[in-house]
Amino acid sequence: MNTVKTLRDLRAAVAQARAEGKQIGFVPTMGNLHAGHVSLVETAVQRADFVVASIFVNPLQFGAGEDLASYPRTLAADQEKLLAAGCHLLFHPDVAEIYPHGMADQTRVIVPGVSEGLCGASRPGHFEGVATVVTKLFNMVQPDLAVFGEKDYQQLAVIRALVHDLNMPIQIIGAPTQRAEDGLALSSRNGYLDAAQRAAAPALYRSLQGIASELQRGARDYPRLIETAQRQQRDAGFVPDYLEIRNALSLRPAQLDDRQLVVLTAAHLGSTRLIDNLLVELPVQ
Ligand code: PAF
Repeated sequence: MNTVKTLRDLRAAVAQARAEGKQIGFVPTMGNLHAGHVSLVETAVQRADFVVASIFVNPLQFGAGEDLASYPRTLAADQEKLLAAGCHLLFHPDVAEIYPHGMADQTRVIVPGVSEGLCGASRPGHFEGVATVVTKLFNMVQPDLAVFGEKDYQQLAVIRALVHDLNMPIQIIGAPTQRAEDGLALSSRNGYLDAAQRAAAPALYRSLQGIASELQRGARDYPRLIETAQRQQRDAGFVPDYLEIRNALSLRPAQLDDRQLVVLTAAHLGSTRLIDNLLVELPVQ
């Protein structure tokens, strides 16, 4: 697996793979890779002949006071994991390669609708930063398909919308959330948790499971379900940010007759903000 840092070297390597008739798969990441990222690369390897991963901690998607400076940079370990997962090429650009004229004058991509509410409300500008960098990376790599984790459910919806709205010929594949044995969704930010917080953290997923089983039993009083689950989060030491029941396809607030639902949450444990979600498919009545 080669690592390239410039757009010129990236384009040359991808052009060679294309000339060999290969389908190009792409997995964008911010590095500090864990088993969740590895599963995204493995999914890409199953579906494409030549897999490009990127590692770029994108300053444009971090707000003031967020963890841009402290976000873990673990290149050597990441390269080993990518190689073992079957990745063919790593694109690891510097900030100046992606934003050569700085960020203030950078053309931005805004995806209305699905970007609003949830993490879009808690992290103003976040999805604009994600949509902008992903659009740039897509134009740089020009993949046939790209794989994103369902763990970042709203992000996946934003990417699907931008590819559709901007007529990009890229197939977007969502890969299931990978979890630790105790249910905690794998995330680079889990590394910020101390031992006591790590022990408490699975309560976030349990709060979603509680709502899911109530919904399966026929409960439809969404505000009451949310209140109970947020109480469980608080009891475990979380400070809830949001917890919402939405239509899994449109991401609009769930209606009483919706059958495909997603329960999404974000909550703070100490200074660490964790997110999770759970799809709930209800039987047609
Ligand atoms: O999910 C991530 O790691 C990032 O938001 C992404 C998609 C790589 C864009 O910077």
